[in-house]
Amino acid sequence: MSDAPDSITIRRPDDWHVHLRDGAMLQAVAQITARQFARAIVMPNLTPPVTTAAMAEEYRERILSALDFGTHFTPLMTAYLTDSTDPDDLAAGHASGALTAAKLYPANATTNSAHGVTDVAKLAPVLERMQDIGMVLCVHGEVTDAEIDIFDREAVFIDRHLSRIVKDFPELKVVFEHVTTEDAVQFVESAGENVGATITPQHLHINRNAMLVGGIRPHAYCLPVAKREQHRLALRKAATSGSAKFFLGTDSAPHAREAKESACGCAGIFNAPFALESYLQVFAEEDALEQFEGFASLHGPAFYGLPVNEGTITLEQVDHRVPDTFEAGGTELVPFHAGETLHWRLAE
Ligand code: NCD
Ligand code: ZN
Repeated sequence: MSDAPDSITIRRPDDWHVHLRDGAMLQAVAQITARQFARAIVMPNLTPPVTTAAMAEEYRERILSALDFGTHFTPLMTAYLTDSTDPDDLAAGHASGALTAAKLYPANATTNSAHGVTDVAKLAPVLERMQDIGMVLCVHGEVTDAEIDIFDREAVFIDRHLSRIVKDFPELKVVFEHVTTEDAVQFVESAGENVGATITPQHLHINRNAMLVGGIRPHAYCLPVAKREQHRLALRKAATSGSAKFFLGTDSAPHAREAKESACGCAGIFNAPFALESYLQVFAEEDALEQFEGFASLHGPAFYGLPVNEGTITLEQVDHRVPDTFEAGGTELVPFHAGETLHWRLAE
C-alpha cells in the first residue's frame, strides 16, 4: 500500500440495490444514501409492497420529499412481482419512466416478502414481456423450501430456478442480487452478457464467523446470510476483476436496533453511511484501485442501459472511526463497521 495514492476521484457512483423504507425510517436514511450516490435502485418490499406503477410513482414522491432541499438524487423504482402482476401495468410503467426494474422475491424469502412469487412458472407471461421491452429483472436468488439448509439456499436457487429462467428467456436482462457464493459468481460469469450481479460491502468483508464466533452478532446478520471464507474470496475476486457483469449494490437494509437485537432479529445490515469507504477498502486491499470506478460508477449504468452520471466524487485516505449508532426517528440504527476504523473517507 506504500505506493497507493492518498486520494481517488471517480465519476459519481450509483447504488443498484437499496432499501430506503418509508415513514420515519425513510426520513432518516434517504439523505444518507443521497450523500454517497447519484441514483439508486430502490427495493419495493414495503408493507404492503410496491406492486404497481402507480404505487412506485407515489413512493418515489415520498422519497424525494424526504431529501434536503437542493439534493441531486434520482430514485429508480422497482415493482415487486407477485402471482398476480399485470404485464401491461409493468410495461406502461417502464415506458413512462415510473419503473426501472421489477424484483422477484420467492415467497417468504426475506423481510416483507410474504407476497412474493409462489411458483416461478406462473411468471412466464410477465418475464416474456419484460424480455421484449428490455426491462431488468432483479432476483433475490434463494429458495425458501424448509428442507434446504440456509447456507445452501442460493446455490439451490441457481439449479432449480435461475438456470431455467435464463434458458427460457435468453434475452431477459437479469441481475442476480447480492450474490454470496462462488457458485453464483461462476453462474454469472458463464451466462450471457444480459446476466449481471450486485455485490454488497458486507459480503466482501465478512464470512459467517463474523455472525457466530464469540457470541451471536445480530448486526452481521443479513439475507442472503454470509457464507464461508472460500465464498467471500470468490466475491472479492469478482468485484475487483474489472468484469462489467459485477457492480455495486449495497443492499443497505436498516432495521431499528431493538428489532435487530432481539430473540428473533431481523435480517439486514445498514451500510449506507460509509458504503463507498467500505468498498474502496476492499479494492485497496486487493491492489485493484484502478477497477473501483468501473464497479461503482460504470458497469451498473451500462447494464441498465442508462447514461453514466455527470460529475465526480473524491475519497481521501484518512483514518476515521465509524459511529456506534445513527439516530433514526426516535430509535437507533447500528451501522456496518460500527466502532471500527475505516481508512478512506468521502470528501465533502
Ligand atoms: C432486506 C430487508 O431488510 O429489506 N434484508 C436483508 O437482509 N438483505 C431484504 C432483502 O434484501 O432481501
Ligand atoms: Zn435487499
